[in-house]
Amino acid sequence: MSETFLSESPEATLAWAARLGATLKPPLVIALFGPLGAGKTLVAKGIAAGLGVREVVTSPTFILINEYELPDGGRLYHVDCYRLRDEKTGEAVAAVKALGLEELFDRGIVLIEWADAVRPLLPAERVDITLADAGPGRRRITLTDHRRPAPG
Ligand SMILES: Nc1ncnc2c1ncn2[C@@H]1O[C@H](COP(=O)(O)OP(=O)(O)OP(=O)(O)O)[C@@H](O)[C@H]1O
Ligand SMILES: [Mg+2]
Repeated sequence: MSETFLSESPEATLAWAARLGATLKPPLVIALFGPLGAGKTLVAKGIAAGLGVREVVTSPTFILINEYELPDGGRLYHVDCYRLRDEKTGEAVAAVKALGLEELFDRGIVLIEWADAVRPLLPAERVDITLADAGPGRRRITLTDHRRPAPG
C-alpha cells in the first residue's frame, strides 16, 4: 500500500504525521528517507505528538538514539544514522549494528532518519516514509506500508 501527500507547509507536514502517529501500534519500524532538510525530523515530531508524547522531540543527530515514553507505558525510539555514516560509502550498517539498533525493533515504535544508510538492517515489515522537495515550502511525502495486513 502506498499513498502520497503533498504538504504545502511545515505545519501541514506536522499535522499529517500526527494523524498517522495516532494510528500506530507497536512494535513498528518507520524508515524515514529524504535528503538534508527534507523534513524527516518534523515528521518524527508529528508522529511523536500523535502518539501522545508530551516531551519536546529534538533531532537525535548528536545523541544517536532518543527514547520517549508513551502514555500507555510503551516506548518510542528516534534514531538518526547521519553522523554514523561512512564518508565514502554513505553506509552506517556496522556502526548502527554495534549500537544495537536491531534490539529495539520489537520493543516499541522505532523512527529511523537516514534509513538508506542501514537498508540491510531494516525489517521487511515496516513503514517507509520518503520526503522530496516539491518547491518552496512544499514536500511530497510518500508512505509505503510494508506491514502484513491485520488478520480477519
Ligand atoms: N512542507 C514542509 N514540510 C516539512 N518541512 C518543511 C516544509 N517546508 C519547509 N520546511 C522546512 O524544512 C526543514 C525540515 O527540517 P527537518 O529538520 O525536519 O529536516 P530533516 O530531513 O530532519 O533534516 P536532516 O537531514 O538535517 O536531519 C525545516 O526547516 C522546515 O521548516
Ligand atoms: Mg533530521
